[in-house]
Amino acid sequence: MEDARKAFGSMGNDIQDILIPAEALQKRIADLGRQISLDYLGLNPLVVGILKGVLFFMADLLRNITIPIEMDFIAVSSYSAEARDQGYVRLVKDLETPIHGRHVLFLEDVIDTGLTLNYILQNLRARQPASLEVCVLFNKPEHRLIDIPLKYKGFDLPDQFVVGYGLDYREKYRNLPFIGLLNAEVLKSNRGSK
Ligand code: IMP
Ligand code: MG
Repeated sequence: MEDARKAFGSMGNDIQDILIPAEALQKRIADLGRQISLDYLGLNPLVVGILKGVLFFMADLLRNITIPIEMDFIAVSSYSAEARDQGYVRLVKDLETPIHGRHVLFLEDVIDTGLTLNYILQNLRARQPASLEVCVLFNKPEHRLIDIPLKYKGFDLPDQFVVGYGLDYREKYRNLPFIGLLNAEVLKSNRGSK
């Protein structure tokens, strides 16, 4: 584990602990891919990812899905910190694919309060897909404000700020291949941003 951090120089130094090593991520994602392949056999699902955090998860998951799928993306941005706290987000990139009557599997990197995801799901549901399920890699149950059924879940995480494997702190650390806990000093020096 020590070596995994060392390879990333100053970014590695900012990581206090590796919570989930790269190998464990890949193993769990392979399991999820197998299950999804069974559940969606013959349904030609549209797998929708939310940028940017889902990038690595989506790329690895899709390569473990052995049935035909299509993929699409959405991107959102917060109007303001207050708006974000209530879950209001602006769709800055919408789907290119009409989803009416389609089986949609929504991929999310991490769910904390659930407010953002709830808002997006309402938007997608209004387009009347045949089904709409959620696959989340990291679930943080302690801050959940809205109950969202998660059909597929990778890992439960404690209420701590983590980075890596797509997750950022101020747009940094996304390219770490593991999930790490940021040093308290790094967070302290820059409080108040997601
Ligand atoms: P929520 O579920 O609406 O509270 O928001 C989840 C969003 O907060 C995610 O899409 C991430 O952008 C961000 N987020 C929550 N927890 C973490 C974390 O531990 N590291 C990095 N980003 C996080
Ligand atoms: Mg973020």
